[in-house]
Amino acid sequence: MKFFLDTAIVEDIRWAANLGIVDGVTTNPSLIARSGRKFEEVVKEITEIVDGPISAEAVSLEAEKMVEEARKLAKIHKNIVVKIPFIEEGIKAVKVLSKEGIRTNVTLIFSASQALIAAKVGANYVSPFIGRIDDTGARGMNVVEETVEIFENYGYQTEVIVASIRHPLHVIEAAVIGAHIATIPPPILKKMISHPLTDKGVKMFLEDWKKVPK
Ligand code: E4P
Repeated sequence: MKFFLDTAIVEDIRWAANLGIVDGVTTNPSLIARSGRKFEEVVKEITEIVDGPISAEAVSLEAEKMVEEARKLAKIHKNIVVKIPFIEEGIKAVKVLSKEGIRTNVTLIFSASQALIAAKVGANYVSPFIGRIDDTGARGMNVVEETVEIFENYGYQTEVIVASIRHPLHVIEAAVIGAHIATIPPPILKKMISHPLTDKGVKMFLEDWKKVPK
């Protein structure tokens, strides 16, 4: 399973990249705003840290303007994947971008039907927002299960990025289903790594090691 980091905080990206477990990064306008930095500057810096797909989101709402924006974003670096929201204009834009070879990540996916349409027009990635679906009282992971099965049924090359991850169990459920990618906020990745029993075990082993006759 590929791990993307869902953040625009470069210090966090450096930390996880140093562990050797980061395959890509996703950003969105809210994450960029939270970084407090200029969009293009932060995106460029991320491309220097991680050699993998880096999602940068287009903010236009009309197909033609989305396409123009995507062309500019794609020029920043070869690894840029343009995030396009799943709206009707977005569907048209993805079709054009796919023909031009500009990679897209269709975002704000809340149903398998939306994911299927995004795949049909040539999206490289779809991002179902699991946590936000869970917030409504529905099971977000159902969308991942259905989407993965549909893509397998028809041989779509589109990869599923499980997004809006709120806890480690989301990642594990996504991995059991066989989703291609989880985009993980750094605090969740930290929770996936540390376990109090591991720390306790290391301490105990070191204490016992001191008792071994030298
Ligand atoms: C990633 O591509 C999404 O933008 C992100 O996971 C959304 O997460 P949120 O629902 O926590 O904002």
